[in-house]
Amino acid sequence: MTENILVAVAWPYANGPLHIGHAAGVYIPADIFARYQRLKGNNVLMVSGSDSHGTPVTLEAEKQGISEEDIFEKYHAEFLGYWETLGVTFDLFTSTHTENHAKVAQKIFLDLYNNGYIYKDTMSQPYCMNEKRFLADRYVHGKCPHCDFEQARGDQCDNCGRTLDPQELINMTCLLCGDHPTFKNTEHFFLKLSHFEKSLIDWVKQQNHWRSNVRNFSIGYLEGGLKDRAITRDIEWGIPVPVEGYEDKSIYVWFEAVVGYLSASQEWANGTDNKEQWKDYWLGNSKSYYFMGKDNIPFHTIIWPAMLMGSGELNLPYNVPANEYLNLEGLKLSTSRNWAVWLSDYLKHYEPDPLRYVISSNMPETSDSDFSWKEYVRANNDELVATYGNLVHRVLTMVHRKFEGRVPTPRNVDTNSKKLLEEAKSIFEDTGNKINECKFRSGLSSAMTLAQSVNRYLDQQAPWKATPEDAATTLWVSLSVINCLKTALYPFLPFSSEKLHLMLGLEGSIQDNAWTWDSDQIQPNVLLPKPTPLFTKLDASVVEQETQLMG
Ligand code: MF3
Ligand code: ZN
Repeated sequence: MTENILVAVAWPYANGPLHIGHAAGVYIPADIFARYQRLKGNNVLMVSGSDSHGTPVTLEAEKQGISEEDIFEKYHAEFLGYWETLGVTFDLFTSTHTENHAKVAQKIFLDLYNNGYIYKDTMSQPYCMNEKRFLADRYVHGKCPHCDFEQARGDQCDNCGRTLDPQELINMTCLLCGDHPTFKNTEHFFLKLSHFEKSLIDWVKQQNHWRSNVRNFSIGYLEGGLKDRAITRDIEWGIPVPVEGYEDKSIYVWFEAVVGYLSASQEWANGTDNKEQWKDYWLGNSKSYYFMGKDNIPFHTIIWPAMLMGSGELNLPYNVPANEYLNLEGLKLSTSRNWAVWLSDYLKHYEPDPLRYVISSNMPETSDSDFSWKEYVRANNDELVATYGNLVHRVLTMVHRKFEGRVPTPRNVDTNSKKLLEEAKSIFEDTGNKINECKFRSGLSSAMTLAQSVNRYLDQQAPWKATPEDAATTLWVSLSVINCLKTALYPFLPFSSEKLHLMLGLEGSIQDNAWTWDSDQIQPNVLLPKPTPLFTKLDASVVEQETQLMG
C-alpha cells in the first residue's frame, strides 16, 4: 500500500553557516529516510526552509552591521548550496520570509485566537534603560532556574532544553550593555498551553514507537506542568501580529517557524497542478516525521501539537526522531570558538558520501556521539575503500579480464553461492526495516555486513584460480549481490550508488527503480563499462592538517 509521508525537517536559523553537527543531527537522517521512502514507492513530501526571523537573526545583523534581510539572504543562499552538494533532497526548501508563510502563520494565530486559545494580557518584560528598548529572547542571559546553567537565554536553556520566560532567569544581564535590565509592563498575546496539558500527556504516552529519549523528555516536561506562554514580542523583524492595534508587535519566532511545515507544504502544492495536494500529507492516514536536534524537542512534541489541537483538524506528528548531539574530537561543537567542521569547508575539499557514511555510522540517535578526523580517515580507508570499494573494483576488473567485460552466465549455483544470495535477501529487508524505524546506524551496519560477506565469499570461491565455469558463477553471484548493496546503501551513499548502478551496466537512475532486489537484474552477456574506483583513499596527513584548522 502506498503511504503519504511528510518529512518535516527543522528549519535552520539563517544567521550563520552550518556545520557537520547540523548535518548529523537533522539533514542527513531526514534525507536517508526520504530517499528510502521514495524508493519504497511511497509519496514523500520533504520540506523545510530558512528560519529567518526573531532575535537570532537581529543579533547577527547588528553584529555584522547589515540589515536582517541581508543576513537572511546570505545564509539562505548558502544553505541551498549545501543541499545540492551534500545531496539533501528537499522537495521544497523555502523560508519564513515569504508572503505565503506570513499569511498561513497569521491564519493559525487567528484560528487559535478565535477559538479562545490565544488571549491578551499585560506582562512585565525586561527593558534596557540604556538602549531604551525591550529585550526579547536572546537579548538577555542568566542562570537557568531548572539546571543552574549560567548562560541560559530569555526563551530557552541550551543545557537542559527547557523553554523559559525571561522573568525566570536568575541574575539576568542585557546582551547589549551588560547591565541588569529593569522590567516594564507591556501587552502581549498568550498561548493557552495549560488547556492542552492533559490531552498532550495522554497523546505522548500513547506514542510507544517514539525514541525513548524523546518520549521521556516530553513526558517529564508535561508532568512538570504547562504554563501559558507569551507568543508575541516587541520587535520589528518578524511577522506582524494580525490583530488591530497590535501590528507593531511581532509573532514569536518559534510560534511562526513551526507553522512553516504547513505553509511550505502549501507553497509546494501551489507550484503543482493540484493546489489541494498538501492535504494528502496533513489529513487522513498520512504520516509525518519531524527531524531535528534535541534542543528542538519541546517545540515539536508540545507547542506545535497544542497549536494543531487548538486550530483545527490537521494531523499531529506521527514520529519525532530527534537526535542528540555530535561532538567533535571529544568536545562539544562550538560556533563561537570555531570548534566545528563547516559544511562549506568540508564540501570544498572532500566528497559528500564519505561524510554521509561517517555521520550515519556514528549517528547520535540515542546518545551523543563523536566525530574525529582520525575516525573519518579510518572509516573512509578501511570501510568504504577497503571493504566496499575494493570489492566492487575487484569483481568488475575480473569480469573484464576473464570475460571480456561481459556479465558471465551462471551454470550450477553451488550451496555457498545460494547461501550468499539468501543472506543478501534478508539483509536487504532488514536494512529497509531499520531505516523505516529511523534506526539509521543499525541499518547501515547491517548493509555493511553484507559487503564483508561478499569479500569472504570471494576468498572462499577464489574465482581467479577456478575453472571458467565456476568463475562465471561466482562472478555473476558477486555482481548480483553488489547490485543489492548498491540499493541498500543508496539512502546513505546516493552518489556512489548511482555511479555503481551505471558500472553494473544498468540504465537510468536508481531513483527510477524501486526498493527491490532481484538477482535477475544482472543479465548475462551485458557489456559493462570500464570500472573506476568508487572511493578514494585518504592520506593520514589529512588528520593533522584538518585538526590544525580547528579551534
Ligand atoms: N531555527 C530553529 C533552530 O535552528 C529550528 C526551528 S524548527 C521549526 O533551532 F520548526 F521551528 F521551524
Ligand atoms: Zn537549564
